[in-house]
Amino acid sequence: FKKYESQVKKIHMGIHKKNLPGNDYLGWLDYPIHYNQKELSLMINKAKYIRSNFETLVVCGIGGSYLGALASINALRGIYPNDKLEIIFLGNTFSPTYIAQVLKHLEHKKFAINVISKSGTTTETSISFRLLKQLLIKKVGKKKASKMIFATTDKEKGALKLEATKEGYTTFTLPGDIGGRYSVLSPVGLFPIACAGIDIKKMMLGAKKAMEEFNNPILKSNKCYRYAVVRDYMYRHNKASEMFVTYEPHLKEIAEWLKQLFGESEGKDHKGLLPTSATFSTDLHSLGQYIQEGTPQLFETVLTVEKSHRKVQVPFDEQNTDGLNYLQHRSIHEICHIAQQGTCQAHVDGRVPNLKISIPEINEFYLGELIYFFEYACGLSGYLLDVNPFDQPGVEAYKKNMFALLGKPGYEELGKELREKLK
Ligand code: PA5
Repeated sequence: FKKYESQVKKIHMGIHKKNLPGNDYLGWLDYPIHYNQKELSLMINKAKYIRSNFETLVVCGIGGSYLGALASINALRGIYPNDKLEIIFLGNTFSPTYIAQVLKHLEHKKFAINVISKSGTTTETSISFRLLKQLLIKKVGKKKASKMIFATTDKEKGALKLEATKEGYTTFTLPGDIGGRYSVLSPVGLFPIACAGIDIKKMMLGAKKAMEEFNNPILKSNKCYRYAVVRDYMYRHNKASEMFVTYEPHLKEIAEWLKQLFGESEGKDHKGLLPTSATFSTDLHSLGQYIQEGTPQLFETVLTVEKSHRKVQVPFDEQNTDGLNYLQHRSIHEICHIAQQGTCQAHVDGRVPNLKISIPEINEFYLGELIYFFEYACGLSGYLLDVNPFDQPGVEAYKKNMFALLGKPGYEELGKELREKLK
């Protein structure tokens, strides 16, 4: 840590003075205190309206335009929420099977759409949105459909913004200075999260607390910077991959969000840790062998939750044929905790360093805090690696090729070239 102190201080100043590469994408930094309160209230009201009037909300977006919402909704509602509003995600795939199944499922549902796209031109999202719109119009007519579509996009530019204005959709704004993967605590994530019946004001309070706590250049007392520094140290000491581990299936999507956050922020100039993930115990019975004895290229970042909201105990069984009575009346939460200790020690003995990020419990406040913690750590991590953590030039490569091969106007030359190569 000592070796990193002055570098961290310098980057901290650079972030806050906004004079580092990518500084025009730092809108998320003080968003927890500068967000538009009127818009937040509108989101809460519209969410209530959706919850009272619809059976299903379809969230149509990809990458940063849905991962954070999915992660937060699963984390806070659980995987089988038994809630009155079903939330479905579309716009993140070209799979005809998945798309057709969702459309079929929606045929007999009263559904609303939240289409989310900063650029308004992402092909996966635009195609799904077109299909959803047509289904909705077929069911209720054009006029009513436009009242059932909620668009989250740029304030003034892009195809979606144009359409939303023309058709009169309720619109929420993703500020121009917040990139997709940093947008979960903006209307991109907050509106679908509110629709899930979650208190988004509390989430913002948690984020605000993190913002105040981590705006501190002193490495010794800044947990967030310490995490970023450990990651950098691992990377520079032959660890190629960070594995995000959780023992809670409803937190699995947090790891998916983290994979995008770190992967897209750091994977540049042929550098960066490969973010991977595992859900234990499930994956102890698949990846466990590799983690323990495979190529020692990993370290694990384990997300643990101290308090569980649910009490489940191992019951007593008179027969005891399974030999489990030695665990009778012990809580599964405690067993899980002990399993974590045992696993951690085994993996450390197997040359897999373990970091632990522990949160007191899963609720809106701590989730908001946790999201901000990771976003802030990711910013510092990127700068320690000497890359711009806020751009994603590499994502464009596949899009260009796809456009060219699909025959999008303007890509004819590249199309010819690619078809030759593909031969
Ligand atoms: O982090 C990012 O910027 C990306 O993952 C985007 O969120 C993703 O590509 C979707 O883009 P858009 O919101 O413009 O449709």
